[in-house]
Amino acid sequence: MIVDKFNRVHNYLRISLTDNCNLRCFYCMPEEEYEFTPVSKLMQKDEIETLSKIFVGLGVNKIRLTGGEPLVRKDAGEIIRSLSKLPVKLTITTNGSRLHEFVDILDESGVHSLNISLDTLQPEKFQLITRRNQFEKVYENIQLLLKRSFHVKVNMVVMKGLNDGELIDFVEWTKHQPVHVRFIEFMPFTGNRWTSNKVFTMQQMLDVIREKYEVTRLQDEKHDTSKGYMVPGHQGTFAIISTMSANFCGDCNRMRLTADGKLKNCLFAEKETDLLSALRRGEDIVPLIHQNIRSKAKELGGQFNTDFEHLHPEDIHNRSMITIGG
Ligand code: 5AD
Ligand code: SF4
Repeated sequence: MIVDKFNRVHNYLRISLTDNCNLRCFYCMPEEEYEFTPVSKLMQKDEIETLSKIFVGLGVNKIRLTGGEPLVRKDAGEIIRSLSKLPVKLTITTNGSRLHEFVDILDESGVHSLNISLDTLQPEKFQLITRRNQFEKVYENIQLLLKRSFHVKVNMVVMKGLNDGELIDFVEWTKHQPVHVRFIEFMPFTGNRWTSNKVFTMQQMLDVIREKYEVTRLQDEKHDTSKGYMVPGHQGTFAIISTMSANFCGDCNRMRLTADGKLKNCLFAEKETDLLSALRRGEDIVPLIHQNIRSKAKELGGQFNTDFEHLHPEDIHNRSMITIGG
């Protein structure tokens, strides 16, 4: 078992397959010219398998593939197939633009629940946020997955003044389709133009939604990062991920492996442990994993707290989101 100083058992590994992406979301990619990691520095398919097996041996029973965009990686299909043979619940977070090419592989690999990022239901705004013209493709792919009975969670990063006016449209979407929308409070990462006044908090979201709908609170599962709600009679649900205003670190079971093979014990952790280089040198990486997790901070990487109004993003030492993997 992998346990930290606060007795939190870590059984959930998020693996970034690449820091490359076919979209350019401003809140994820740094503004300056970004160079993707060269392929030789990325974990290769067999290295991902080896590392995953080691983590499974230490009690990991859930793996999520992330990016960048995991499905731009050429061997993504093979990686999905191979990890699906491990005794884990395998899931993926994707921007949805390539899902039509992967729907069969996902189905055959038992990946029936997935998270798709979509921050707006307006094509022009999609272009503004992602700097690419892919709204129709993503929306079509969501429809395709719903038709094929996948459990679809839609991640929407809520940013004040940009898309907070669309909360009702997203909740309305859950009326006729079994989509599970997750509203995420905007988080600060290196180079992502975050300011505290762009955060639209959980309380503000609920106030807006409750003006129009009667909502009921759902029972969350252990380790859920989101608080679930639904409008009675709607087919889908919505949930709120309140990292900034009410964090859920107390129950954290997550670890992250970046695409270049570094272990991060928190989204906001400054320190990383280079597992890939150690693996390539033939070293035993198990002690490195335990050391890294034992040094995990109590909350938010030890870098800030819920008083986000006074947070200066330049004080947070971290990677940009695209190199962490969400
Ligand atoms: N704040 C909140 N959520 C973010 N994501 C990416 N960057 C941010 C941010 N700055 C979301 C993506 C994706 C998930 C992995 O994290 O939209 O759905
Ligand atoms: Fe790509 Fe997702 Fe980052 Fe957008 S948020 S640039 S889709 S990895």
